[in-house]
Amino acid sequence: MDTCTKLSKIDQMIDLPVDQQSDPQIGRQIDQQLETLVDRVIDKHKGEASALLQILLDIQSENSWLPKQALGRVSERLEVPLNRIQHIVTFYKAFSLVPKGRHKVHICVGTACHVRGATRILDTVEEATGIKPGETDLELKFSLETVNCLGCCALGPVMEVDGKVHGKMSPVKASEVLKIYG
Ligand code: FES
Repeated sequence: MDTCTKLSKIDQMIDLPVDQQSDPQIGRQIDQQLETLVDRVIDKHKGEASALLQILLDIQSENSWLPKQALGRVSERLEVPLNRIQHIVTFYKAFSLVPKGRHKVHICVGTACHVRGATRILDTVEEATGIKPGETDLELKFSLETVNCLGCCALGPVMEVDGKVHGKMSPVKASEVLKIYG
C-alpha cells in the first residue's frame, strides 16, 4: 500500500544521482551545466512562455529527464508559476521526473513478437543490464521498457534502442546489440 508522505510529486523528485550528491563540487558543476542547457533552450524559443511545452520537451530530449532545478529555472525565466509547470509535466507521460538512462531500450512483447520468443529477449536484456522494465541502471546507461507493438511485427521479435529498431532478435543478437550501446 502507498504511504502518504504529504509531499507533492515535485518535492519527491530526485535532484541528482546519489553518487553526485555526495560531492558538492560535482553538484555545482552539474547545476551550472543544467542551467546553461535550460537557458540555451529557452533562448532558442526566444523566451516565449507560449512555447513552454516545447521548451520542456527539448530540455527532456537533451537531458533525458527533468530535474527539479530545471523546472525551477524554466519557471523563473518564463515567469510561469512552478505549479503550472508541475501540472504539465505530471500530466503528460512523455515527461520523466526521475533520471533516465542514456539509452532507451524497448522490448516488444506484443502477440506477434511474443510467439516468436520475445520473453527470451526480455530475459536476456534484463540479465545483461541488471534492470527490469520501468527501471534505469545505477550508471544511468540504460532504461528498459516493454511495449505492445512497435509496428514491425514481421520482424519479430523486435527490440528498439534509442528509436532504432532491431528485428529478428535472438538472445545472442540482443546481447550483441546492447554491446554496441554499452
Ligand atoms: S507485435 Fe512486436 S512489432 Fe508488432
